[in-house]
Amino acid sequence: MTKNIFPKDFYWGASTASHQVEGKTVNQWSEWELANASELARTAKKRLQHVVGDWESIAKQATDPANYVSGRGIDHYRRYEEDFDIAKKLNLNAFRFSIEWSRIEPEKGVWDETAIEHYRDYIRQLRKRGLEPFLNIWHWTMPNWFVAEGGFKRSRNLKHWRRFVQKIADEYADDLKFIITLNEPNVYSTFSFLIGEWVPEEKNVFGFATVYYNLARAHRQAYAILRRASPTLQIGLAPAMANIQAKRPGNLIDIVSTAWMRYFWNWWFVNRVSRKLDFVGFNYYFSDYYKAGKLNNPDAPKNDLGWYMEPEGLHPLLIRTWAHYKKPIYITENGVADSGDQYRKWWLEETMVAMERAMSEGVDLRGYFHWSLFDNFEWKYGWWPKFGLVHVDREHGMKRTIRPSGIWYAHRIKSFQKGELPTNGK
Ligand code: BGC
Repeated sequence: MTKNIFPKDFYWGASTASHQVEGKTVNQWSEWELANASELARTAKKRLQHVVGDWESIAKQATDPANYVSGRGIDHYRRYEEDFDIAKKLNLNAFRFSIEWSRIEPEKGVWDETAIEHYRDYIRQLRKRGLEPFLNIWHWTMPNWFVAEGGFKRSRNLKHWRRFVQKIADEYADDLKFIITLNEPNVYSTFSFLIGEWVPEEKNVFGFATVYYNLARAHRQAYAILRRASPTLQIGLAPAMANIQAKRPGNLIDIVSTAWMRYFWNWWFVNRVSRKLDFVGFNYYFSDYYKAGKLNNPDAPKNDLGWYMEPEGLHPLLIRTWAHYKKPIYITENGVADSGDQYRKWWLEETMVAMERAMSEGVDLRGYFHWSLFDNFEWKYGWWPKFGLVHVDREHGMKRTIRPSGIWYAHRIKSFQKGELPTNGK
């Protein structure tokens, strides 16, 4: 490889989600947090000490109920302009964010004009700084009235979803080039309805299947609405995908369970909606090795959440996603929980090599969004996992400080944008 493979218009971005950064959101999650914070703090040691890398280093935070409340977030709802200045400083040229349905439609059929204007300005401020907005309509959180009617478990509620999507289309479609309908429908359905770890903590395979199926319908319906609103808008999806591999490549059981898991986790949903996709986005965080039908990952290296880190696992996933769908690809999330910032630079560099390799083999990859720009509220784990290129000190005025890996990422992007410095696979 003799030249920089990333074109000048490659999107180098970062991702966020409304509930994880904005602060003061009122939705199904915020209610659940308040109801469960004490219990989560009390049971933290038992749940986490065998999972996370270093229990002692998180014990104080993980046993504090305040850790489990999104609360003031990182005050991004008010500080977005300052935050976009930071994104600009990092040389990003794209930004993925989600809008909070519960702000836009706090009551059924009632639109909050202030919130609608807020996101209009949000998009404007991104553009002003040369950051291409990738608007994500649904990143798991929902207004309480929608949940009270049964959320995505009831297909009749899809009419509420369609009305919301129509509103988004009416208000913002003209200001956007890219839109993502749903974030990780596979993770949401699994954790909320099958494993039952997240609100509403259901463990029912039928409920799970219904929600998953309805989300596929929700995507297709949203696609039709958005397409009508704008013939040029690029409409996509952001499922979670894992690099799923057989632990013993010659073993029949491992091969079969790997094939099944790949189909179920990576392809099932996308196959259902692939004709209604202008691009395929996906979120990549880890490799999963299967032995005798069970997850069997190497012990190291693991991130702070205990997830096995194999950044180069992105490469086979890119190759397969391209082979399956032959549509432009965007990596809509990718990153590492790393409070000490000891792995992030390595992770980013290996990820870039994996992307370069796939692109040199013909994959039409057009953008990369790191998760996340800031430390943020990590759902059931709360505040202790640190995914940010930028550290946020919530104890001291929410001060933002760019981590060394963030500075490195900024330099590397600049070099790519100038057409210099291929990583050359080294
Ligand atoms: C989600 C994010 C989350 C990240 C790290 C993804 O599954 O889309 O909301 O913070 O992973 O766990």
